[in-house]
Amino acid sequence: MITGVHGYVPQDVLTNQDLEQLVDTSDAWIQARTGIRERRILRSPNAGTSVMGIEAVSGLLQKTSTDPASIDLLICATITPDMPTPATANLIAHAVGAHRAFSYDLQAACSGFLFALVTAAQFIESGRCCRVVVVGADKMSSITDYQDRTTCVLFGDGAGAVLLEPATNGRGLIDSVLASDGAGVDHLYQAAGGSKMPASPQTVADRAHYVRQNGPVVFKIAVKKMVQAVQEVMRRNHLSNEDLRFLVPHQANARILHAVANLLDMDTSKVMMNVDTLGNTTAATLPLCLWQYGDRLLPGDKLILVAFGGGFTWGASYVIW
Ligand code: UT7
Repeated sequence: MITGVHGYVPQDVLTNQDLEQLVDTSDAWIQARTGIRERRILRSPNAGTSVMGIEAVSGLLQKTSTDPASIDLLICATITPDMPTPATANLIAHAVGAHRAFSYDLQAACSGFLFALVTAAQFIESGRCCRVVVVGADKMSSITDYQDRTTCVLFGDGAGAVLLEPATNGRGLIDSVLASDGAGVDHLYQAAGGSKMPASPQTVADRAHYVRQNGPVVFKIAVKKMVQAVQEVMRRNHLSNEDLRFLVPHQANARILHAVANLLDMDTSKVMMNVDTLGNTTAATLPLCLWQYGDRLLPGDKLILVAFGGGFTWGASYVIW
C-alpha cells in the first residue's frame, strides 16, 4: 500500500505571458486549448532531474519518518535522466542515503509512474521487498523546443514520490491494466541522442534533441485508451462511479481530462487536476496530483490512476488509499 507521498516543483514559474515573448502564441489560445496557465521550470545551472527527485524523496522519507537505510528498492520513472548512465534512480538513492536499496530507471514516458508503481508492487507482493520508493521525475524543459509553439506550451518540470509497504488491511494496489503499442513512435518521439542517431553537430542544428508530437493524433488516442483502461479496471472490480473518491489522470491537457470524464459520465469534481498550474510534467503528474490532493484523501478511499503517453504506453490502476 501507499504509505506516504511527497512532491517537489521548482520555484521558477513560466507563464503563458512569458511564452508569448518566445513563440507566436497567446495566453487565450493556451488556456482555451490546454487549460494551462503556467508551469514550473528548473533553471539552476547543471541541475538535472535528480535534483527534483532528491527533494521529493528526501521529503517523503522525512515526513514518513523512514530510515533511508531501510529502503529495499528505488525506481525512478523518467524520460529525462541526468545522464544516459548511470541511472537517475542511483543518484537519488545515493543522495538520500538509501545505501541498501537496489535502484534503476524505468522509461514509459507519461505512463512511467504507473508502470513503475505496478512493478514496485510486484516486489512487495512477492515478499522480495518491504519498502520501495517510486519516484516520477522529469525535467521536460531540457527536451522542450522553445521555438516550437505546438509543444513548448505544454510541458513543465517536477517530481513526485510514493512509499510502498506491505498492506495489512486490504488497502493498496488492487488491480491494473497496462499496455504499449510501439506504433506510437511516429507520433511522439525524441529523434536524436540515442543509439540510432547519436548527438552530432547536425542533430543539434536540426533541433532533433527536442520532443516532437502530432498533437491531434495523440489527443484522440489518449482519450480513447484512457477511457478504455478505466472502464476495464472498473468492470473487473465491480466498481461504479459512486464507489470512486477520485480519478487520478495523467495531466497532459485539461480538454483531455474533460473528455475522459465526460465519456465516463463522471463529475469533474472527482477528477484530480493540476495541469493549470504545473502543465505536463510527464512521469511526475500522478504523484504530484496525489501529493497536492493528499489532505482530501482518507484511508479506504477508492482511486483509479490512469495514464497515457509516448510509446504509446497507457494503463489504469485501482488503488485503495
Ligand atoms: O502527455 C503525452 C501525451 N500528450 C498529449 O496527450 C497531448 C495531446 N495533444 C494536445 O494536447 C493538443 O493536440 C495540443 C494542445 C498539442 C494542440 O491542440 P489542438 O487543439 O489539437 O490544436 P491543433 O494541433 O489542431 O492546431 C490548431 C491550430 C493550428 O493552426 P492552423 O493550422 O489551424 O492555422 C496550429 O498551428 O492551432 C495552432 N497552434 C497554436 N496556435 C497558437 C498550435 N499550437 C499553438 C499555440 N499557439 N501554442
